[in-house]
Amino acid sequence: KGCKLVGCGSAVPTLQISNVELSKIVETSDEWISTRTGIRNRRVLSGKESLNDLAVEAARKALQMAEVEPDDVDLILMCTSTPEDLFGGAPQGQASDSSFALVLIQKALGCKNNPLSYDITAACSGFLLGLVSAGSHIRGTGFRNVLVIGADALSRFVDWTDRGSCILFGDAAGAVLLQACDSEEDGLFSFDVHSDGEGGRHLKAGIRSNETEDVLGSNGSVLFPPQRSSYSCIHMNGKEVFRFAVRVVPQSIESAMVKAGLTMSSIDWLLLHQANQRIIDAVATRLDIPSERVISNLANYGNTSAASIPLALDEAVRSGKVKSGDTIAAAGFGAGLTWGSAILRW
Ligand code: ACO
Repeated sequence: KGCKLVGCGSAVPTLQISNVELSKIVETSDEWISTRTGIRNRRVLSGKESLNDLAVEAARKALQMAEVEPDDVDLILMCTSTPEDLFGGAPQGQASDSSFALVLIQKALGCKNNPLSYDITAACSGFLLGLVSAGSHIRGTGFRNVLVIGADALSRFVDWTDRGSCILFGDAAGAVLLQACDSEEDGLFSFDVHSDGEGGRHLKAGIRSNETEDVLGSNGSVLFPPQRSSYSCIHMNGKEVFRFAVRVVPQSIESAMVKAGLTMSSIDWLLLHQANQRIIDAVATRLDIPSERVISNLANYGNTSAASIPLALDEAVRSGKVKSGDTIAAAGFGAGLTWGSAILRW
């Protein structure tokens, strides 16, 4: 049994923040940011729209492109490390009426048949791992239509006084629809996925305990000190993450290509997680892929974590760059540390 990509969509917040604007809040410059990262602008959620709104818009566009009705979706995978509700997926201030993750997205899309849906939390590798999971569900469980959404709002966890990290991130959502097909039409040729907990310390947004009052028993004695907590801001060792990405991503793509039985020359497009243009360029150079065959849109959006691959894919498809039948080598990498690649046909 095969599976193929039949639709994509994306959505970004309306508020755009340029490098020049960032240079008014931290000591930096447009020149420093653009030469070190390739980023010029990023979009940031400002309260006008929620992350779920973006996710729903991206998913709706993917369904429209695929000409698939919401009722025909069997599974929704929401790849995010910044859900708006740890239980219900509800935007801030709105009550969720169910404890199922993603119920609001299902509802907003109008999926009346209660498709299975769950979150995948793997930061910048989230979408890639979601795609691999979707393929396994289709091949293993008989699901026909699987919606994979990558959506993140890392701006909510950025330390806006840390110039080493706040310049990098933006918010967005992207989605693809993966559909069951006959094996000769198969469009997910192979994948290669890994993690290394040892390196996890280089990229963290850990839990921290907040001061709270002790819980008292009926006689007034201390029963226990409750562990109220919240997440701290992103802590990143940029140099280590850079080195890690440039080392593992080419190896992973090469390994996925071998599994697919394809040679490097059959790659039409290199589509990496959009973290830093220098990472993208270094990987392309190692794989000997010319820049005309590299997809990059991080100048406009920065690093949008789990959204970056489907956002860049959607723009490349809608602009006519990526055409039906093209072979794409996609790779994600990030916190965990996690990384992986997939060889796809659009
Ligand atoms: N503006 C001006 N100067 C800066 C800035 C800034 N925004 N940030 C750092 N600097 C300074 C530093 O203080 C340092 O100054 P010093 O030499 O006086 O000490 C100097 O610039 C060099 O700093 P480095 O951190 O060594 O700069 P580097 O060239 O490594 O670039 C960067 C930093 C852009 C973060 C780079 O390491 C990078 O992109 N790493 C990958 C990060 C990444 O991709 N993270 C996310 C991936 S995973 C995920 O997506 C969740």
